[in-house]
Amino acid sequence: MKSKIKKITYSSEETIQAACDFAKTLKAGDVLLLEGDLGAGKTTFVKGLAKGLKAKVKDVVSPTFVLMNIYQGQMPIYHFDLYRLEKPEEIASLNVDEYLQSDGIAVIEWPKRLGADMPRDCYWIEFKHISETEREINISVMQ
Ligand SMILES: Nc1ncnc2c1ncn2[C@@H]1O[C@H](COP(=O)(O)OP(=O)(O)O)[C@@H](O)[C@H]1O
Ligand SMILES: [Mg+2]
Repeated sequence: MKSKIKKITYSSEETIQAACDFAKTLKAGDVLLLEGDLGAGKTTFVKGLAKGLKAKVKDVVSPTFVLMNIYQGQMPIYHFDLYRLEKPEEIASLNVDEYLQSDGIAVIEWPKRLGADMPRDCYWIEFKHISETEREINISVMQ
């Protein structure tokens, strides 16, 4: 781990703003793994990434049923949600690899579903539910 940033937010708007600021530091090929319970704020954070990269924030929804959404901004955002995937063959059929180190950024909710295929060169972003409106966000750079 190279570095770690810790941030507490007190509303979804603050989480969006934090992600918006963070998005401006990203470059094509970056991979973001979002870890945390349901409702912890992962998808809200992706809205902020979209805002920061000038994509349509309204398009950002949890891709739970389609598994991946693409948002077009200054560069594409490939947004995966692996929550419903359990079988290794379902995960393999998604070809997540094709979207890593690509022309855009890959953002993956429930990355542990990838098992041994979980990318190592990534931002590891953990969300903790502190209270109804309070979240702790830890961003680590992994290599
Ligand atoms: N500080 C906060 N940061 C992010 N979301 C918050 C915060 N406070 C309340 N919320 C609410 O918590 C929920 C988070 O949902 P979501 O982002 O979909 O979580 P996840 O993708 O982790 O399941 C939303 O309803 C959001 O409005
Ligand atoms: Mg989500």
